[in-house]
Amino acid sequence: MRAIALLPLLCVCASTVLAVLCLMAGYKSDFMENFELITFNTSLLGEGLIEAAAQEVASGETATTVNVPPALQSALASTLLSNSELIQEIAEKLNIHDFYKIHMLDFCEGYYEPGPIPNASSTNPSQNVTFCSPPQAFSFFNATQVLTDELLPGVSLDQIQFPSQVQDAITAMAVVQKVMFVLYCTGAGISGLAALEAIIAFLIDGRLSAVCNAILDIIAFIALGIASGCATAFIYAVTNAVNQYGAQVNLQAYGGTKFLIMSWIATVLPLLAAFLWCIDCCIGPDRRRGRKEVY
Ligand SMILES: *[C@@H]1O[C@H](CO)[C@@H](O)[C@H](O)[C@H]1NC(C)=O
Ligand SMILES: *[C@@H]1O[C@H](CO)[C@@H](O)[C@H](O)[C@H]1NC(C)=O
Ligand SMILES: *[C@@H]1O[C@H](CO)[C@@H](O)[C@H](O)[C@H]1NC(C)=O
Ligand SMILES: *[C@@H]1O[C@H](CO)[C@@H](O)[C@H](O)[C@H]1NC(C)=O
Repeated sequence: MRAIALLPLLCVCASTVLAVLCLMAGYKSDFMENFELITFNTSLLGEGLIEAAAQEVASGETATTVNVPPALQSALASTLLSNSELIQEIAEKLNIHDFYKIHMLDFCEGYYEPGPIPNASSTNPSQNVTFCSPPQAFSFFNATQVLTDELLPGVSLDQIQFPSQVQDAITAMAVVQKVMFVLYCTGAGISGLAALEAIIAFLIDGRLSAVCNAILDIIAFIALGIASGCATAFIYAVTNAVNQYGAQVNLQAYGGTKFLIMSWIATVLPLLAAFLWCIDCCIGPDRRRGRKEVY
Protein backbone atom coordinates (compact mmCIF):
# COMPACT_ATOMS: atom_id res chain seq x y z
CA MET A 1 0.00 0.00 0.00
CA ARG A 2 1.36 3.40 -0.87
CA ALA A 3 -0.15 6.66 0.17
CA ILE A 4 1.15 8.53 -2.89
CA ALA A 5 -1.43 6.68 -5.02
CA LEU A 6 -4.16 8.59 -3.24
CA LEU A 7 -3.47 11.92 -4.97
CA PRO A 8 -3.68 10.69 -8.58
CA LEU A 9 -6.68 8.59 -7.56
CA LEU A 10 -8.40 11.76 -6.37
CA CYS A 11 -7.46 13.53 -9.63
CA VAL A 12 -8.91 10.87 -11.92
CA CYS A 13 -12.04 10.46 -9.80
CA ALA A 14 -12.68 14.22 -10.01
CA SER A 15 -11.93 14.15 -13.74
CA THR A 16 -14.42 11.31 -14.29
CA VAL A 17 -17.14 13.17 -12.40
CA LEU A 18 -16.49 16.43 -14.26
CA ALA A 19 -16.44 14.70 -17.67
CA VAL A 20 -19.77 13.04 -16.88
CA LEU A 21 -21.15 16.40 -15.76
CA CYS A 22 -20.00 17.96 -19.05
CA LEU A 23 -22.20 15.41 -20.79
CA MET A 24 -25.14 15.62 -18.40
CA ALA A 25 -25.24 19.34 -17.55
CA GLY A 26 -28.61 20.82 -18.46
CA TYR A 27 -30.16 17.53 -19.59
CA LYS A 28 -33.21 18.77 -17.67
CA SER A 29 -34.17 22.25 -16.58
CA ASP A 30 -33.15 21.89 -12.92
CA PHE A 31 -29.84 20.11 -13.38
CA MET A 32 -26.87 22.48 -13.94
CA GLU A 33 -28.85 24.26 -16.59
CA ASN A 34 -26.50 27.27 -16.49
CA PHE A 35 -23.58 25.12 -17.71
CA GLU A 36 -24.65 25.59 -21.32
CA LEU A 37 -22.41 25.57 -24.37
CA ILE A 38 -24.02 28.59 -26.04
CA THR A 39 -26.86 30.99 -25.25
CA PHE A 40 -28.74 32.62 -28.11
CA ASN A 41 -30.40 35.88 -27.09
CA THR A 42 -33.32 36.16 -29.50
CA SER A 43 -35.33 38.56 -27.34
CA LEU A 44 -35.22 41.40 -29.88
CA LEU A 45 -35.20 39.26 -33.01
CA GLY A 46 -37.92 40.58 -35.34
CA GLU A 47 -37.74 44.05 -33.86
CA GLY A 48 -36.91 45.50 -37.30
CA LEU A 49 -40.04 44.04 -38.79
CA ILE A 50 -42.26 45.46 -36.08
CA GLU A 51 -40.56 48.85 -36.01
CA ALA A 52 -41.00 49.19 -39.76
CA ALA A 53 -44.67 48.40 -39.31
CA ALA A 54 -44.92 50.84 -36.42
CA GLN A 55 -43.42 53.57 -38.62
CA GLU A 56 -45.85 52.86 -41.42
CA VAL A 57 -48.72 53.12 -38.99
CA ALA A 58 -47.32 56.33 -37.55
CA SER A 59 -47.19 57.81 -41.05
CA GLY A 60 -50.86 57.19 -41.60
CA GLU A 61 -51.27 53.59 -42.72
CA THR A 62 -53.75 51.49 -40.82
CA ALA A 63 -52.61 48.33 -39.12
CA THR A 64 -54.35 46.23 -41.75
CA THR A 65 -52.50 47.79 -44.69
CA VAL A 66 -48.93 47.86 -43.35
CA ASN A 67 -46.44 45.73 -45.18
CA VAL A 68 -46.08 42.89 -42.68
CA PRO A 69 -47.20 39.26 -42.82
CA PRO A 70 -51.01 39.07 -42.37
CA ALA A 71 -50.58 36.89 -39.30
CA LEU A 72 -48.69 39.70 -37.61
CA GLN A 73 -51.15 42.42 -38.58
CA SER A 74 -53.88 41.14 -36.30
CA ALA A 75 -51.39 40.62 -33.50
CA LEU A 76 -50.13 44.16 -33.94
CA ALA A 77 -53.47 45.91 -34.31
CA SER A 78 -54.24 45.98 -30.61
CA THR A 79 -50.83 47.05 -29.33
CA LEU A 80 -49.44 49.42 -31.96
CA LEU A 81 -51.00 52.53 -30.53
CA SER A 82 -49.57 51.99 -27.04
CA ASN A 83 -46.01 51.80 -28.26
CA SER A 84 -44.09 51.84 -24.97
CA GLU A 85 -44.08 48.14 -24.17
CA LEU A 86 -43.85 47.13 -27.79
CA ILE A 87 -40.13 46.33 -27.89
CA GLN A 88 -40.23 43.96 -24.94
CA GLU A 89 -43.24 42.10 -26.24
CA ILE A 90 -41.91 41.53 -29.72
CA ALA A 91 -40.47 38.09 -29.18
CA GLU A 92 -43.63 37.02 -27.40
CA LYS A 93 -45.84 38.31 -30.19
CA LEU A 94 -43.77 36.51 -32.77
CA ASN A 95 -44.12 33.53 -30.47
CA ILE A 96 -40.39 32.79 -30.17
CA HIS A 97 -38.63 32.71 -26.80
CA ASP A 98 -36.16 35.23 -25.38
CA PHE A 99 -33.26 32.79 -25.28
CA TYR A 100 -32.20 29.33 -26.43
CA LYS A 101 -29.39 27.45 -24.71
CA ILE A 102 -27.49 24.54 -26.22
CA HIS A 103 -26.32 21.72 -23.93
CA MET A 104 -24.57 18.47 -24.83
CA LEU A 105 -27.82 16.47 -24.75
CA ASP A 106 -30.59 19.00 -25.39
CA PHE A 107 -31.52 22.64 -25.70
CA CYS A 108 -33.55 24.77 -23.28
CA GLU A 109 -35.58 27.88 -23.94
CA GLY A 110 -37.29 30.52 -21.85
CA TYR A 111 -37.80 34.19 -21.07
CA TYR A 112 -35.77 36.87 -19.33
CA GLU A 113 -37.33 38.14 -16.09
CA PRO A 114 -38.46 40.85 -15.61
CA GLY A 115 -37.48 41.77 -19.21
CA PRO A 116 -34.67 41.21 -21.72
CA ILE A 117 -33.19 44.70 -21.58
CA PRO A 118 -31.16 45.57 -18.48
CA ASN A 119 -32.14 48.90 -16.91
CA ALA A 120 -31.66 50.79 -13.67
CA SER A 121 -34.04 48.60 -11.67
CA SER A 122 -33.04 45.25 -13.17
CA THR A 123 -29.37 45.38 -14.04
CA ASN A 124 -29.03 41.65 -14.57
CA PRO A 125 -32.19 39.97 -15.90
CA SER A 126 -32.59 36.38 -14.72
CA GLN A 127 -33.47 33.50 -17.02
CA ASN A 128 -36.73 31.67 -16.58
CA VAL A 129 -36.43 28.34 -18.41
CA THR A 130 -39.82 27.12 -19.60
CA PHE A 131 -38.91 24.06 -21.68
CA CYS A 132 -36.04 21.69 -22.38
CA SER A 133 -36.02 19.27 -25.31
CA PRO A 134 -35.84 15.54 -24.47
CA PRO A 135 -32.19 14.58 -23.87
CA GLN A 136 -30.57 12.52 -26.60
CA ALA A 137 -27.13 11.41 -27.71
CA PHE A 138 -25.67 13.43 -30.60
CA SER A 139 -28.17 16.21 -29.93
CA PHE A 140 -28.13 18.77 -32.74
CA PHE A 141 -29.65 22.24 -32.41
CA ASN A 142 -31.44 22.96 -35.67
CA ALA A 143 -32.13 26.66 -35.10
CA THR A 144 -34.02 26.94 -38.38
CA GLN A 145 -36.40 24.19 -37.44
CA VAL A 146 -36.86 25.19 -33.78
CA LEU A 147 -37.58 28.84 -34.62
CA THR A 148 -39.77 28.05 -37.63
CA ASP A 149 -41.86 25.66 -35.54
CA GLU A 150 -42.39 28.32 -32.88
CA LEU A 151 -42.88 31.41 -35.03
CA LEU A 152 -46.37 32.80 -35.37
CA PRO A 153 -47.80 30.72 -38.25
CA GLY A 154 -47.49 32.71 -41.46
CA VAL A 155 -44.31 34.51 -40.42
CA SER A 156 -41.07 33.17 -41.88
CA LEU A 157 -37.48 33.36 -40.68
CA ASP A 158 -36.66 35.48 -43.73
CA GLN A 159 -39.27 38.01 -42.68
CA ILE A 160 -37.66 38.46 -39.28
CA GLN A 161 -34.28 38.58 -41.05
CA PHE A 162 -32.79 35.61 -39.25
CA PRO A 163 -29.29 35.32 -40.77
CA SER A 164 -28.84 32.01 -42.61
CA GLN A 165 -25.13 32.06 -41.69
CA VAL A 166 -26.08 31.10 -38.13
CA GLN A 167 -27.52 27.76 -39.21
CA ASP A 168 -24.63 27.33 -41.66
CA ALA A 169 -22.16 27.69 -38.78
CA ILE A 170 -24.03 25.23 -36.55
CA THR A 171 -24.34 22.74 -39.44
CA ALA A 172 -20.67 23.13 -40.33
CA MET A 173 -19.77 22.29 -36.73
CA ALA A 174 -22.10 19.25 -36.54
CA VAL A 175 -19.19 16.84 -37.03
CA VAL A 176 -17.19 18.59 -34.33
CA GLN A 177 -20.18 18.23 -32.01
CA LYS A 178 -20.41 14.49 -32.73
CA VAL A 179 -16.69 13.96 -32.14
CA MET A 180 -17.02 15.96 -28.94
CA PHE A 181 -19.82 13.74 -27.64
CA VAL A 182 -17.92 10.53 -28.38
CA LEU A 183 -14.74 11.86 -26.78
CA TYR A 184 -16.41 13.06 -23.58
CA CYS A 185 -17.88 9.56 -23.22
CA THR A 186 -14.52 7.95 -24.01
CA GLY A 187 -12.65 10.34 -21.71
CA ALA A 188 -15.05 9.76 -18.83
CA GLY A 189 -14.76 5.99 -19.35
CA ILE A 190 -10.95 5.97 -19.43
CA SER A 191 -10.72 8.28 -16.43
CA GLY A 192 -13.03 5.90 -14.57
CA LEU A 193 -10.83 2.97 -15.60
CA ALA A 194 -7.77 4.91 -14.44
CA ALA A 195 -9.48 5.40 -11.08
CA LEU A 196 -9.94 1.64 -10.75
CA GLU A 197 -6.32 1.06 -11.69
CA ALA A 198 -5.18 3.66 -9.20
CA ILE A 199 -7.03 1.74 -6.48
CA ILE A 200 -5.20 -1.42 -7.53
CA ALA A 201 -1.90 0.46 -7.52
CA PHE A 202 -2.76 1.74 -4.08
CA LEU A 203 -3.03 -1.86 -2.85
CA ILE A 204 -0.10 -3.43 -4.70
CA ASP A 205 3.15 -1.56 -4.75
CA GLY A 206 5.22 -1.58 -7.90
CA ARG A 207 6.75 0.36 -10.74
CA LEU A 208 4.68 -1.41 -13.40
CA SER A 209 1.37 -0.30 -11.89
CA ALA A 210 2.62 3.28 -11.79
CA VAL A 211 3.58 3.13 -15.47
CA CYS A 212 0.25 1.55 -16.45
CA ASN A 213 -1.59 4.25 -14.54
CA ALA A 214 0.42 7.03 -16.15
CA ILE A 215 -0.31 5.63 -19.63
CA LEU A 216 -4.05 5.38 -18.95
CA ASP A 217 -4.06 8.90 -17.54
CA ILE A 218 -2.35 10.23 -20.64
CA ILE A 219 -4.96 8.56 -22.87
CA ALA A 220 -7.76 10.11 -20.78
CA PHE A 221 -5.99 13.46 -21.04
CA ILE A 222 -5.79 13.19 -24.84
CA ALA A 223 -9.46 12.18 -25.22
CA LEU A 224 -10.73 14.93 -22.92
CA GLY A 225 -8.27 17.43 -24.40
CA ILE A 226 -9.63 16.88 -27.91
CA ALA A 227 -13.21 16.98 -26.54
CA SER A 228 -12.52 20.29 -24.79
CA GLY A 229 -10.78 21.61 -27.90
CA CYS A 230 -13.82 20.67 -29.99
CA ALA A 231 -16.16 22.33 -27.46
CA THR A 232 -14.05 25.49 -27.52
CA ALA A 233 -13.99 25.54 -31.33
CA PHE A 234 -17.74 24.87 -31.55
CA ILE A 235 -18.56 27.68 -29.12
CA TYR A 236 -16.14 30.08 -30.78
CA ALA A 237 -17.32 29.39 -34.34
CA VAL A 238 -21.05 29.60 -33.61
CA THR A 239 -20.99 32.65 -31.31
CA ASN A 240 -18.72 34.40 -33.80
CA ALA A 241 -21.10 33.72 -36.69
CA VAL A 242 -24.09 34.88 -34.64
CA ASN A 243 -22.45 38.05 -33.40
CA GLN A 244 -21.07 38.89 -36.82
CA TYR A 245 -24.18 38.27 -38.93
CA GLY A 246 -26.85 38.74 -36.27
CA ALA A 247 -25.74 42.16 -35.04
CA GLN A 248 -28.03 44.13 -37.38
CA VAL A 249 -31.07 42.14 -36.27
CA ASN A 250 -30.21 42.27 -32.55
CA LEU A 251 -29.40 38.59 -32.39
CA GLN A 252 -26.68 37.82 -29.86
CA ALA A 253 -24.85 34.71 -28.66
CA TYR A 254 -22.76 34.10 -25.55
CA GLY A 255 -20.27 31.27 -25.06
CA GLY A 256 -20.69 29.14 -21.93
CA THR A 257 -17.68 30.02 -19.78
CA LYS A 258 -18.69 27.75 -16.89
CA PHE A 259 -18.92 24.76 -19.20
CA LEU A 260 -15.50 25.44 -20.70
CA ILE A 261 -13.88 25.87 -17.28
CA MET A 262 -15.38 22.59 -16.09
CA SER A 263 -14.30 20.83 -19.27
CA TRP A 264 -10.71 22.05 -19.16
CA ILE A 265 -10.36 21.18 -15.46
CA ALA A 266 -11.61 17.66 -16.30
CA THR A 267 -8.91 17.59 -19.00
CA VAL A 268 -5.97 18.78 -16.92
CA LEU A 269 -6.59 16.50 -13.92
CA PRO A 270 -5.51 13.22 -15.63
CA LEU A 271 -2.35 14.97 -16.83
CA LEU A 272 -1.62 15.95 -13.25
CA ALA A 273 -2.27 12.34 -12.19
CA ALA A 274 0.17 11.06 -14.85
CA PHE A 275 2.76 13.52 -13.60
CA LEU A 276 2.29 12.27 -10.03
CA TRP A 277 2.72 8.67 -11.19
CA CYS A 278 5.96 9.64 -12.92
CA ILE A 279 7.22 11.14 -9.69
CA ASP A 280 6.20 7.96 -7.91
CA CYS A 281 8.05 5.95 -10.53
CA CYS A 282 11.23 7.98 -10.03
CA ILE A 283 11.35 8.20 -6.30
CA GLY A 284 9.61 4.88 -5.70
CA PRO A 285 12.48 2.46 -6.49
CA ASP A 286 14.93 4.25 -4.21
CA ARG A 287 12.41 4.23 -1.45
CA ARG A 288 11.69 0.55 -1.94
CA ARG A 289 15.34 -0.41 -2.23
CA GLY A 290 15.96 1.49 0.98
CA ARG A 291 13.21 -0.46 2.61
CA LYS A 292 14.68 -3.78 1.47
CA GLU A 293 18.08 -2.88 2.92
CA VAL A 294 16.45 -2.26 6.23
CA TYR A 295 14.69 -5.63 6.21
C1 LIG B 1 -36.91 47.91 -16.15
O1 LIG B 1 -37.37 46.87 -17.01
C2 LIG B 1 -38.48 46.15 -16.50
C3 LIG B 1 -38.81 45.06 -17.48
O2 LIG B 1 -37.81 44.84 -18.39
C4 LIG B 1 -39.66 47.08 -16.30
O3 LIG B 1 -40.73 46.36 -15.75
C5 LIG B 1 -39.25 48.21 -15.37
O4 LIG B 1 -40.31 49.14 -15.28
C6 LIG B 1 -38.01 48.92 -15.90
N1 LIG B 1 -37.57 49.92 -14.92
C7 LIG B 1 -37.15 51.13 -15.26
C8 LIG B 1 -36.68 52.00 -14.15
O5 LIG B 1 -37.13 51.51 -16.42
C1 LIG C 1 -41.39 31.41 -15.05
O1 LIG C 1 -42.35 31.05 -16.03
C2 LIG C 1 -43.46 30.34 -15.51
C3 LIG C 1 -44.32 29.88 -16.68
O2 LIG C 1 -44.26 30.76 -17.75
C4 LIG C 1 -44.21 31.25 -14.55
O3 LIG C 1 -45.33 30.57 -14.02
C5 LIG C 1 -43.26 31.67 -13.42
O4 LIG C 1 -43.90 32.59 -12.56
C6 LIG C 1 -41.99 32.30 -13.98
N1 LIG C 1 -41.04 32.50 -12.91
C7 LIG C 1 -40.53 33.70 -12.61
C8 LIG C 1 -39.51 33.74 -11.53
O5 LIG C 1 -40.85 34.72 -13.18
C1 LIG D 1 -33.00 21.83 -40.13
O1 LIG D 1 -34.40 21.83 -40.26
C2 LIG D 1 -34.83 22.22 -41.53
C3 LIG D 1 -36.34 22.35 -41.47
O2 LIG D 1 -36.94 21.24 -40.87
C4 LIG D 1 -34.39 21.20 -42.56
O3 LIG D 1 -34.81 21.59 -43.84
C5 LIG D 1 -32.86 21.13 -42.52
O4 LIG D 1 -32.42 20.12 -43.39
C6 LIG D 1 -32.38 20.84 -41.11
N1 LIG D 1 -30.94 20.96 -41.11
C7 LIG D 1 -30.14 20.00 -40.65
C8 LIG D 1 -28.69 20.24 -40.76
O5 LIG D 1 -30.59 18.97 -40.16
C1 LIG E 1 -30.40 40.55 -25.40
O1 LIG E 1 -30.12 41.15 -26.65
C2 LIG E 1 -30.60 42.48 -26.74
C3 LIG E 1 -30.41 42.94 -28.18
O2 LIG E 1 -29.10 42.88 -28.60
C4 LIG E 1 -29.87 43.34 -25.74
O3 LIG E 1 -30.32 44.67 -25.81
C5 LIG E 1 -30.14 42.79 -24.34
O4 LIG E 1 -29.40 43.52 -23.39
C6 LIG E 1 -29.77 41.33 -24.26
N1 LIG E 1 -30.25 40.83 -23.00
C7 LIG E 1 -29.54 40.01 -22.21
C8 LIG E 1 -30.15 39.62 -20.92
O5 LIG E 1 -28.45 39.59 -22.54
